[in-house]
Amino acid sequence: MIIAIACDHGGFELKQRIKEYLRTRDDIKIADLGTDSEESVDYPIYGKACGEAVAGGKADRGIVICGTGIGISIAANKVKGVRCGLCTSVEMAELTRKHNNANILALGGRITAPGLALDITKTWLDTEFEGGRHRRRTDMLDEML
Ligand code: RB5
Repeated sequence: MIIAIACDHGGFELKQRIKEYLRTRDDIKIADLGTDSEESVDYPIYGKACGEAVAGGKADRGIVICGTGIGISIAANKVKGVRCGLCTSVEMAELTRKHNNANILALGGRITAPGLALDITKTWLDTEFEGGRHRRRTDMLDEML
């Protein structure tokens, strides 16, 4: 599975931690779309880039990180075909896959401690969509843009 990962300066440190974990997995290839330092940048550019990579089929799923996770998730969700969920707990990570079929995970580098962010990421990567009644609703989401 190819995972596109992108962040702004507020998410850079956490992105490095998440990439360390992703590198330990044989089933994952990383497409890092930047940014590459803690120098100030604009999160819409990176949320859009990750959204386009996933919606365009260059990546199977994506992870976006800014300071809160809010701005970059809003940006990613403006790309048609993206269902990006901001998660601050493992339960949210599980449900955003099972119910929302989220194809991008958003994290807040200044909000969520690295250990919890890793647990969220692992759960999000390894939980499947339940389909059924949830598919009708995700289909409605996909028709909105
Ligand atoms: C950057 O300072 C900060 O606004 C950004 O990382 C993010 O939190 C926006 O939602």
